[in-house]
Amino acid sequence: MHHPTHSTTPASHSSRPSDPSRPFSPDDLVEQLRAAGCVFAEDEARLLCETAGGPAQLWEMTARRVAGHPLEHVLGWAQFAGLRIAVDPGVFVPRRRTEFLVRCAAASAPAEGTLVLVDLCCGTGAVGAALLAALGGRGELHAADLDPAAVRCARRNLADNGGHVHEGDLFTALPDRLRGRIDVLTANVPYVPTADIPLLPPEAREHEPRPALDGGPDGLALLRRVAAEAAGWLAPGGVLLTETSSHQAEPAAGILSAAGFAVTVTTDPELWATTLTARRP
Ligand SMILES: C[S@@+](CC[C@H](N)C(=O)[O-])C[C@H]1O[C@@H](n2cnc3c(N)ncnc32)[C@H](O)[C@@H]1O
Repeated sequence: MHHPTHSTTPASHSSRPSDPSRPFSPDDLVEQLRAAGCVFAEDEARLLCETAGGPAQLWEMTARRVAGHPLEHVLGWAQFAGLRIAVDPGVFVPRRRTEFLVRCAAASAPAEGTLVLVDLCCGTGAVGAALLAALGGRGELHAADLDPAAVRCARRNLADNGGHVHEGDLFTALPDRLRGRIDVLTANVPYVPTADIPLLPPEAREHEPRPALDGGPDGLALLRRVAAEAAGWLAPGGVLLTETSSHQAEPAAGILSAAGFAVTVTTDPELWATTLTARRP
């Protein structure tokens, strides 16, 4: 599994929440979630209770969770790098492991000045929002995605910090004036090899769009396309950061080196995260 986030995958889709006309006790809720295979049923029950606007909504949310929808889609938000990120149905759920990409990006950014930050394949916009926050707001942020639902969601998440969100295929979405000016380019491209998609947990397979997951035959098709164009968009000394699985790190580093970048591979064993930092000479 390449993008594991849903630590609480319901194993069964057969269980149903209790009758909506009956009061829903916290114990009922935990029991329903546990019966559906949610490993952290108590935590989920607490989050559902805190988020629901009343008993009817709590019932409806529990029904969706028990039916196998990702918790973050049911809640409508995810915690990411200390931020609460809106997650719309059908939009890729930001994974905890990707917080490591953000940390690496912040560490590799120039220490001074107002930076040009770009987050390609932005999904909810979580990476850009977290990076800008980590840099104390010291940047002009642009995010882009091919999927209109992701673009809408990212616009909501970046509305407060002045981020610009563009729709389109990779770099074609960006304003031309950014060419040669990007200081930090993050791109958490889809990287699951096509043949592995059926092996993903149902929450990802059934509730996240396939283009958000499928990285082509070896999972690196999108990275190849980003690597081919990135140098023309980065400022001299600018960095491109991307995430892979551990076994893809070597071929991914090869792709970036062949495109002329100086590449560093870093891992966070706790988050099971691998990040490649590619610096333009
Ligand atoms: C793995 S998700 C990452 C989302 C987000 N960056 C995150 O880490 O939570 C990949 C995203 O890439 C987008 N995507 C896929 N192909 C794309 C393309 N050719 N151009 C732009 N975005 C694309 C998908 O819509 C999806 O939102």
